[in-house]
Amino acid sequence: MRGALYVIGLGPGPADWLTPQASAALAGIEDLVGYGPYVARVAPRAGVQPQASDNRVEFERAGAALALAAQGRRVGVVSGGDPGVFAMAAAVVEAMAQGPAEWRALDVEVLPGVSAMQAAAARLGAPLGGDFCALSLSDNLKPWSLIERRLIAACDGDFALALYNPASKARPQQIHDAFAVLRARRAPSTPVAFARAVGRPDEALVVTTLGEADPGIADMSTLVIVGASTTRLVQRPGLRPFLLTPRSYP
Ligand SMILES: C[S@@+](CC[C@H](N)C(=O)[O-])C[C@H]1O[C@@H](n2cnc3c(N)ncnc32)[C@H](O)[C@@H]1O
Repeated sequence: MRGALYVIGLGPGPADWLTPQASAALAGIEDLVGYGPYVARVAPRAGVQPQASDNRVEFERAGAALALAAQGRRVGVVSGGDPGVFAMAAAVVEAMAQGPAEWRALDVEVLPGVSAMQAAAARLGAPLGGDFCALSLSDNLKPWSLIERRLIAACDGDFALALYNPASKARPQQIHDAFAVLRARRAPSTPVAFARAVGRPDEALVVTTLGEADPGIADMSTLVIVGASTTRLVQRPGLRPFLLTPRSYP
């Protein structure tokens, strides 16, 4: 039997943000491969082999999944959010590029998911309504000097920012360094939002300004949004203000 590999986006958390296409793929796989917490989010099903691994072995995991598909298995590689955004699609395609020729002939499909920046932006109104940049602050796979250069370039271009991987227990400093870069280049009144665990029971949203923000509240479950010069708060009586980055530019 011909194998297949689906790179499946699970969305940011809740089942109603899982696409019907992703649900259908999960219902048809024989092997479930992914970082432990993402594998744990998929309901166990008889006949499905879960294969959970650490978040630092993405490339090895991708190769193992492709090898299973090459043996004729139907394999699902799961990612949180969208698999193409700082996630497993890149590892799978890279492993295909570097691996045996037969891997490039396999049926491989990337199934999109709702990314954290989309979920956070939806909660916050329209902070990414104009041009924006998505950056990962993790220096596990690239040097901090490059991240800093890109932050500066994003400020020069007046993009709103969606900052992924802002901090972890092993990397508490980057978000503070990133805010130092931003504070040197953007007005203190710039709207900023910390969107933590969006869509999950422990969701927490903090809307503040660049001048008043405490970057130390960000952790590995947080997506940080920093406004452009045109981003403003829209006050709502008794409710959290919305952020608005208009599509039109003055
Ligand atoms: C390795 S990246 C994966 C991104 C994912 N592929 C996506 O499209 O959202 C992990 C980072 O995504 C963000 N993230 C993922 N789920 C989130 C959620 N439910 N709420 C807020 N941020 C989230 C955090 O910044 C976290 O550190």
